[in-house]
Amino acid sequence: MALHFSSRIPADLGPNRITQARAAHPPAYDLTVSNPTRCGIPYPPDLLQPLADPAGLVYRPDPRGLAEARRAVAGEYARQGVAVPVEHLVLTASTSEAYALLFKLLCEPGEAVLIGVPSYPLCDHLARVEGVRTEPYHLDPDHGWRLDPHELAAAPADTRAVVVVHPNNPTGSYLDPEDAAALRALCAERGWALIVDEVFLDFPLTAVGARSLAGCATCLTFALGGLSKSVGLPQLKLGWIAASGPDGVLGPALERLEYLADTFLSVATPVQLAAAELLARGGTVRAAIAARCWSNLAALREVVRGHPSLEVLEPGGGWSAVLRFPAVIDEEDLVVELIERDSVAVQPGFYFDFLRDGHLVLSLLPEAAIFRAGVARLATRLRQLG
Ligand SMILES: Cc1ncc(COP(=O)(O)O)c(C=O)c1O
Repeated sequence: MALHFSSRIPADLGPNRITQARAAHPPAYDLTVSNPTRCGIPYPPDLLQPLADPAGLVYRPDPRGLAEARRAVAGEYARQGVAVPVEHLVLTASTSEAYALLFKLLCEPGEAVLIGVPSYPLCDHLARVEGVRTEPYHLDPDHGWRLDPHELAAAPADTRAVVVVHPNNPTGSYLDPEDAAALRALCAERGWALIVDEVFLDFPLTAVGARSLAGCATCLTFALGGLSKSVGLPQLKLGWIAASGPDGVLGPALERLEYLADTFLSVATPVQLAAAELLARGGTVRAAIAARCWSNLAALREVVRGHPSLEVLEPGGGWSAVLRFPAVIDEEDLVVELIERDSVAVQPGFYFDFLRDGHLVLSLLPEAAIFRAGVARLATRLRQLG
């Protein structure tokens, strides 16, 4: 008998054409990097010292997370001007794990969550491995990335939650305040939960930025954050969920989240004990990453200014920028050609389900010289093709 594997895992796990091209021609100008620890960002050498606290020799599991760590996370929200009670916080090993817990909390197998497109592609995979269906709602740059209320209102009857990435990856767009109010009202009316992924909120790319959507009591809301972006330490594996909502709903939701967290107890003790210190010390890393993103975005604008057929879709925040080019060439062909002929790697828009062709996604994290040279090569190639 043939062994059965769950269809939660894609049948074809082989490398796609772009991955194959990269393996054959490792790019010198990699504008896809998302790992902040590999981009020449200066990390204080003693940053991880707090992990050596001898208190970590004792195991004191708490399914919601150690109180001292949750107090530190509440302090982060206070820094952003939002009051989040410690009792409403649940720690996780990552934001990805937070999604997994919430999908288990909210959905029966096969039920739906609404996910914006274009957006963070891992969300789809996370839902699928939890046995949850995703239904898209569309974000259009030509409409300021605003939500279409009619589209959301027409969602399937088995919808249980809406995911918003704020600011969005890769578009850098925030949830518009008017849309936030309408979405919260719709969630309250339909009994949907609102999941707001705010991992990039600390990285505004305009003077204005946006506020956290945590702490709202109109509908059941789960705001997600974590060390992986806020202080550029993905390897420490600490994320969090800030829950809020109407009385009568929030308590039962938190009890059930605690039950789920208790079945795994996946957050390591040393990182919880060190959380306050890491968040305080990590401010310099956050500032260095933010400065890198600002200066690379400025460099991108400068190169693009000389190429009238190219357009930067101005991001409001985050670690990436979207470049629109005339769809004279297929995105995949272009990305492969850039790898093979120019040694430049970028991501095609179709990885993120853009509504139309002709988009490339560029990470703003690479070292300045690599970024600038990569963008210049990209612009030259596009001019030759156009
Ligand atoms: C929008 C978004 N959410 C969540 C994550 C994952 O974060 P974590 O490392 O905490 O799982 C990423 C990683 O790139 C992301 O882009």
